[in-house]
Amino acid sequence: MIAQPDLDRMLEAAKRAASHAHCQYSQFPVGAALLMDDGQIIPGCNVENVSYGLTNCAERTAVFSAIAQGLPRKGMRSVLIYMPGQTLYSPCGACRQVLKEFLPPEAPIYATCDLPEFKQWTMAELLPDGFDF
Ligand code: THU
Repeated sequence: MIAQPDLDRMLEAAKRAASHAHCQYSQFPVGAALLMDDGQIIPGCNVENVSYGLTNCAERTAVFSAIAQGLPRKGMRSVLIYMPGQTLYSPCGACRQVLKEFLPPEAPIYATCDLPEFKQWTMAELLPDGFDF
């Protein structure tokens, strides 16, 4: 469970990140906000490529950025994704596997849009029986 003030900050960060998306091929901006245990929020956006398969999703950008910044890999608490518009979407399969690498099974994951609604899962609900050694 994430407290409302933190959720508000995550939404604000995800919206700002979505405005930075490089998505000229899909015209589908996505913003992500990764909440760390110490309260800091790491943003991510989708970064597309003319060679379409090289696209990096917003969720993975946020997680990879946290790792690149040297933040504690066990310190990831929650992720919120924001996709502008009136439809609630869900994180893609590749991102679920990457999130599972770092977020604990009970971590809450949120998806929202411009409706006053959220989808919410735990990490374990989002990717049951994901790949692991
Ligand atoms: N996208 C994300 O950033 N996250 C997801 O979970 C689903 C899809 C991006 C990838 C691509 O740039 C655009 O949305 C359309 O698929």
